[in-house]
Amino acid sequence: MTHPDRFVLAGLMGWPVMHSRSPKLHNYWLGAHGLAGAYVPLAIQPEGLRAALRALPALGFAGCNLTIPHKEAALAIVDTVDPLARRIGAVNTVVVAPDGSLEGWNTDAFGFVESIRETQPAWRADRGPVVVLGAGGGARAVLVGLIDQGAGDIRLINRTLARAEALARELGGPIKTLAWDQRQVALDGAAMLVNTTNQGMVGEPPLDLPLDTLPASALVSDIVYIPRETPLLAAARKRGNPTVNGAGMLVHQARAAFRARFGIMPEATPELRAMVEATT
Ligand SMILES: NC(=O)c1ccc[n+]([C@@H]2O[C@H](COP(=O)([O-])OP(=O)(O)OC[C@H]3O[C@@H](n4cnc5c(N)ncnc54)[C@H](OP(=O)(O)O)[C@@H]3O)[C@@H](O)[C@H]2O)c1
Repeated sequence: MTHPDRFVLAGLMGWPVMHSRSPKLHNYWLGAHGLAGAYVPLAIQPEGLRAALRALPALGFAGCNLTIPHKEAALAIVDTVDPLARRIGAVNTVVVAPDGSLEGWNTDAFGFVESIRETQPAWRADRGPVVVLGAGGGARAVLVGLIDQGAGDIRLINRTLARAEALARELGGPIKTLAWDQRQVALDGAAMLVNTTNQGMVGEPPLDLPLDTLPASALVSDIVYIPRETPLLAAARKRGNPTVNGAGMLVHQARAAFRARFGIMPEATPELRAMVEATT
């Protein structure tokens, strides 16, 4: 933890990184909590990750966040890995400990679960089958979050079935895998649908998934956050399903990362939400 009367430094390492909303969030909270400091985007190429992370203590950084393509590689570089980050298989938050060692954390599962609870306070993971589309980095955090919240029946569907099967084996728990062409059938009787593929994000086509077989009561969540309302969420809203967009996961994982570094859990104030929404 950093002493409050010092200039504190933190940043986001990614490649690319300039598109990220994280500096806005963290700089807002530094100001809101009277901490003099800065959170900066750090464009780090994959081959430079080790040296960049190892330089954090000498540069006086309290820590950093990691985004594509560094989250998995960082696992093997930091000195200690939190068990949750180990299970997810990725580090999104690095904290510089008082002795200069590097701690690896993952706050994405927390961010996902909090984003659901914020919109749907009565939500429970064990209400019925949960359909998860995608088996990439985002899916890993979502699946661990769902399992830890007590989901009893997860239908995992990915374009590349072998990747979903490998993930199901690795994570264990109540995950059944289904082939991509089974995705519409899988919606039958579902209590929740989560898109963790990149389909529907800006520059990608919409997710190819008719919702006819999805119960109208099912909660539809999309972790894609640009645009704020993906074609999937728009279609779900039009037929009356409750929806949760990906901006909440982004904000809440950042709250937990801020706490890991500074010991303060910052709030997702309406002003902050408006700031994020203005850019998505
Ligand atoms: N809200 C947040 O805080 C948050 C956090 C993490 C990620 N995200 C967002 O989630 C999305 C995925 O990120 P990621 O890190 O998980 O990416 P990733 O690791 O690259 O995984 C991409 C996923 O999309 C699938 N996919 C790609 N093209 C497809 C297609 N044409 N049809 C069907 N599936 C396709 C991939 O399937 P294959 O395995 O078959 O390639 C894979 O499951 C991105 O939009 C990212 O911005 C948001």
